[in-house]
Amino acid sequence: MKIKRLDDSVVSKIAAGEVVVGVHSVVKELIENALDAKAKKIVVELINGGKSEVKVKDDGEGMDEEDLKVCFLPHTTSKISSFSDLSNLSSFGFRGEALHSISSVSKMRVISKTASAPFGHEIEVVAGKLVYSRPIHSDVGTTVIVRDLFFNVPARRKFLKSAAVESRMVTEIFEKFCLSRLDVHFVLVRDQQVVYDLAASDLLERVKAIFPDVPVQSLKSFEVEHKDMQLRGCLSLNTFAKRGMVICFVNDRFVVNQTLTSAVYAAYSDMLEKGKHPFVVLKLSLNPRNIDVNVHPQKLEVKFVNEEDVFKFVRDSLRRLLAKPIVRQIHVQERPRVAEPVEFYRPSVQPEKIEEVEERLLEGEKLRFVGTVRGRYVLFEKDEGLVILDFHAAHERIVFEQMMNSLAKRNNKTLIVAMRIRMKETDAALLASSQVLKELGFALSVGDEGLVVEQIPDWMELSEVEEFLRESVDELKLVDLQGMRETIKKILADHACKKSMRTRDRVSEIEMKELAEKIINEGYSTCPHGRPLMFSIGFRDLDRFFGRD
Ligand SMILES: Nc1ncnc2c1ncn2[C@@H]1O[C@H](COP(=O)(O)OP(=O)(O)OP(=O)(O)O)[C@@H](O)[C@H]1O
Ligand SMILES: [Mg+2]
Repeated sequence: MKIKRLDDSVVSKIAAGEVVVGVHSVVKELIENALDAKAKKIVVELINGGKSEVKVKDDGEGMDEEDLKVCFLPHTTSKISSFSDLSNLSSFGFRGEALHSISSVSKMRVISKTASAPFGHEIEVVAGKLVYSRPIHSDVGTTVIVRDLFFNVPARRKFLKSAAVESRMVTEIFEKFCLSRLDVHFVLVRDQQVVYDLAASDLLERVKAIFPDVPVQSLKSFEVEHKDMQLRGCLSLNTFAKRGMVICFVNDRFVVNQTLTSAVYAAYSDMLEKGKHPFVVLKLSLNPRNIDVNVHPQKLEVKFVNEEDVFKFVRDSLRRLLAKPIVRQIHVQERPRVAEPVEFYRPSVQPEKIEEVEERLLEGEKLRFVGTVRGRYVLFEKDEGLVILDFHAAHERIVFEQMMNSLAKRNNKTLIVAMRIRMKETDAALLASSQVLKELGFALSVGDEGLVVEQIPDWMELSEVEEFLRESVDELKLVDLQGMRETIKKILADHACKKSMRTRDRVSEIEMKELAEKIINEGYSTCPHGRPLMFSIGFRDLDRFFGRD
C-alpha cells in the first residue's frame, strides 16, 4: 500500500465539508480505516465519552514508516488515484481527509507495523504538526489514539455534548459496524468497562446482543438476488412501538436513505398499525457503478443511479418474505417439576406461567377445520396445535383485496340513471374533482343541488354509494399529505370493514371455512388496518399448561 497525494483536480470534485463533527465521527473514520486495512479485530476504547481520549486498535495491514509520515497530510490516500476510481469504489475511504481533519483538531498518536517490517513506528501529530516519529515495538496493525478533541478550537469544543451523550453516539455508530461486518471481532470499552465483545458471528446473534428487547424468534433472515443486486438481512414478522428500527447498509456502508426506508415501509404497509414500526436490518449490495457515495462529507448518504429499480427490488423482496400467514403464538414456560403433596381442595399442579407472545410462520402446514365459536372465531387444528382465526378481520381483508383487484383491472359500471346526492357545494366540488375517486372508478360532477354520480366501481352496490362518498370527504382532504395510494388504501380499508360487518351475521360455517382457507393460501396475516388475523397455541404449550408433559 502506498499513500499518495490526490491531484488538485480530483480534490476539487470531492464532497467537501466537515469530516469531524464530534467523537462519533472520529470513531467512525478510524473504524472505517481499520476495515479498509482488512482488520479482523477492532478494539475501540473511550475515556470520558471519548472527549479525553479515543483509541482504535486494529490488526490490519498496517503502515510502514514512509506511509505513516504522510498519512495525516491533506488529501493523501492509498485508496484512489483518479476521479474515475470513485465510480468503482470498494473501500470506505477515498478522500484522504479523515486523519488530516482529526489530527488538525486534536493530539493524535499513530502506532503502526506491517507484517514485513521488523518493528513498528510511532508518530505524534498535534494540531496538524508532526511532533515526532520514532521506531517502536508493536504488533502488526495500527493503533490510533486521539486526545483532547478540539483542544485548539474552543468554539467547537463547546459544542461537544456531555460524555454520556457522546458515548451514546459512539455506541450507536459502533453498533452499526457490528451489524454490517459480521466477519470482524469488535470490542467496545468505555472508561475501562467492556460494553461489547463480539466475536465474528451471524446476523441474528449480533442483533440479539445489540437489541436485547427485540424478540429474535420473530425475526427472519433472508438473502435474495435480482440482476446485479443482492439483498441480505433480517426482518421482523411483527411490528413494534419503537421508532428508527430500519437500519440500512449499502455495500457494507451504514446509510440513511429515504428510498430504502420508504421501500421497507411500503412492504409493511398492510401490517402497520398506527404508531408501530418494523425491525429491519437491510444490507444491499450492488455494483459500485450504480451508486454515488460522494454526496455527503460524512458519507452517510448514497445516491442510486436507478432509484426506482432499487425501490421496487427492496419493496417486492420484503413483501414476498412477509406474504406468509403469521400467527400469534403463546408459549407456556417450562418449570422444573417438584413433587408436591397431594391436596384435594387445590390443584396439585399449578398451571405453568404463560410467558411469551411471538409470531410464527405457518409454512406448508395442513389445517383441519374444527368449528366456529360465537360466529366470530374459526377454530382449526394443525399438526402441532390450535389456530384461532378472527373471522371479521379475515373477511375484511378478503373484501379489501377484491376491491384492490378490481381497481387494478379498472372494472367499473355505468349507472343507467345518474344518481343525485344532496350535499354542500364545497364537498361536492371536492368529490367531483378528486383524482382518488376517479382512480377508484367513479365518474362524478357537480349538479344543481349537490353531486351527480354517473359511474361507480363494479364491487360497489348502489345502496353503498352515498355513504361511501360522504365518508370519503375527510380522508380526501388529506390526500396531499399522505399521497394517492395511501388514501385509496385507507378509504377502501374503512369500507371493507363496514362491508364485512354487515355480512357477518349471514355467513354459514362452510363459507367461514372457505374464507379461512383462502386467507391461509393467500398468505394474508393482517386485516387492512394492520390487526392480526390469527392466534395459535401449540399442543406442547397446552400440555405444559395442564401439567401433562
Ligand atoms: N488503520 C489503518 N491501517 C492501515 N492504513 C491506514 C489506517 N488508517 C489510515 N491508513 C492509511 O492512511 C491513509 C489516509 O487515511 P484517511 O482516513 O485520512 O484517508 P482515506 O481513508 O484514504 O480517505 P477518507 O478521508 O475518505 O477516509 C489511508 O489511505 C491509508 O492508506
Ligand atoms: Mg479513512
